[in-house]
Amino acid sequence: IAVDPFDLVVVGATGDLARRKLLPALFYRCAAGQMPAEARIFGVARRAMTADAFRAMAHEAIAAHVPPSDRDEAGVDTFLGRVGYVAVKADADDGWADLARALADQPGRIRVFYLATGPDLFGPICDQLARHGLATPGSRVVVEKPIGKSLDSARAVNDAIGRTFPEDRVYRIDHYLGKETVQNLMALRFANALFEPVWNAAHIDHVQITVAETLGVEGRAGYYDTAGALRDMVQNHMLQLLCLTAMEPPTSLAADAVRDEKLKVLKALVPITEENAADRTVRGQYRAGASAGGPVPGYLEELGKPASNTETFVALRADIANWRWAGVPFFLRTGKRLPARVSEIVVAFRPIPHSVFDDTAGPISANKLVIRLQPDESVKLWLMIKDPGPGGMRLQQQALNMSFAEAFGVRNPDAYERLLMDVVRGNQTLFMRRDEVEAAWTWIDPTLQAWSASSEPPKPYTAGTWGPSASIALIERAGRTWHEDEG
Ligand code: BG6
Repeated sequence: IAVDPFDLVVVGATGDLARRKLLPALFYRCAAGQMPAEARIFGVARRAMTADAFRAMAHEAIAAHVPPSDRDEAGVDTFLGRVGYVAVKADADDGWADLARALADQPGRIRVFYLATGPDLFGPICDQLARHGLATPGSRVVVEKPIGKSLDSARAVNDAIGRTFPEDRVYRIDHYLGKETVQNLMALRFANALFEPVWNAAHIDHVQITVAETLGVEGRAGYYDTAGALRDMVQNHMLQLLCLTAMEPPTSLAADAVRDEKLKVLKALVPITEENAADRTVRGQYRAGASAGGPVPGYLEELGKPASNTETFVALRADIANWRWAGVPFFLRTGKRLPARVSEIVVAFRPIPHSVFDDTAGPISANKLVIRLQPDESVKLWLMIKDPGPGGMRLQQQALNMSFAEAFGVRNPDAYERLLMDVVRGNQTLFMRRDEVEAAWTWIDPTLQAWSASSEPPKPYTAGTWGPSASIALIERAGRTWHEDEG
C-alpha cells in the first residue's frame, strides 16, 4: 500500500550507509509501488555536485547493492526521477537556505530528515534545521547509532536533538528491529498461545543470544577502535533482542506500549561491576587467521596500530531481576571474524523433572527453541522423539523446523525498507525512545568502567574461531554450554 507523499532528506548522502543501505532500500520501496509519484528524495552532503552527478552516484549504488533480477532500467529511472541533491555544510550556514528553497513548495508535507552522519553533527544539523524553518510540524528526524559513547554523551546527543525535535518526532534507528525475524519474535510470542505460559523461570533454564560475524572491521577501523563490540553491538542490537525476548506482553503494538515494556527489562538488568566483571564478561580481540577459506589479517594489522585495548568479541552473562526471570541467565556473545555469520536466539527449556525411560533410551536433552535471525531465517523447536523401529524405546533429538525461505519463498526485505516506511507512516514502535537508549547506557557504563579499572587487555583469539576459550569457560561455569546446531 502506498504511503502518503513525502520529502526525504538524507544528510550524509554520499556516505557508506546511504549508498549501501538507504538508497537501495528506497529503490526497493519505489519498485514495489509503495512510493507515491510525488515523493521526493534529496541527497544532502558537503561535496559540491550537480543533481545529475548525485543521481549517477545513486545509480551506481543501486547497481552495486540490488541484484539484477530485482531491477530494470525503467524502474531505476523512475526512482532516480525522484532524487535531487543540495550541497550543505552540516556545521556551518552554507547551503541550508538552498535546501529550504528546494522544500518550500510543500510546507505541509511529511518531511523526513535522515541524519546519516556521525553523532557529533546531530545537534548542529538539528539547530540549522530549526534556524532555517525546515523543521516543520510534519517533519521528523531519524538518527543512527552510536548515540553517544556513554550515558553522559548519549544524554548530550539526545538533548541536542531535543532542542529542535520533540520526542514523538525523533526516530532512533536500531536496524535489528527492522529485521523480519526479529519482528517474528513478537509474532511467535504473542500470536501463539503455546509459548507465553512457559516463557518464564519455571520452565526456561537459560537464554543465549549470539550475533556472530565473519567480517573484520573493514574500512571502519577508525570508528570501531573508539567503540568496541560492547558499544557497537551489545548496547543496542543485542540488548534490543534481549528486551524483545524478555519483556512482558505489551497491551498492544502501539509504540509506547512496546517501549514501556522494553524499558522495564533494561531497568531490571543486574549491574556488572568491578566485583563481578571478571566472572561475567570476556573480551577478545582477533589475531591473524583464516576466514571464508583464505588468510585474513589480525585486528591490529587492519587498524594499522601496534596496540589497541578495543575488544572485537564480547561474551557476557546478563541477569534480569524480576519475577519472570530471576535465576535465568541470559548469555550474550558477539564478535568479528568468527567462523560463521549467524545470529540466533536460543531459548533453552528446563530438563524433564523425572525420566520414565531406562538407560537404553539414551540421554534426554532439554527442549530448545532456536530462532535463527540470519542467514537462513528459521524457527526450530528441538524435541525428543522415539527412534523409529522395533529396537525398543530409544530416543533421539529432532527439530520441528520452519524455514522462512521454504515457507514463503520470497525475498526478505532489508530492515531499512521497513523502517524508512515506518518513519513516513509515523510509526515509532520499532524505534528506540530516549529513556530506552539511556537505560541501556546506564547498564553498559559500569561494565566499561570495570574493564578500564582492570588492567587486563582483551584476550587474543585466532580469526575464524569462536572467540577466546574463556567464553566457553564463562558459560560452563554456570553449568551450560553454547548451543551448536545439531542438524
Ligand atoms: C552495525 C555495526 O550496527 O551492525 C556493525 O556497527 C555490524 O559493526 C552490523 O557489522 C551488523 O549488522 P547486520 O545487519 O549485518 O547483522
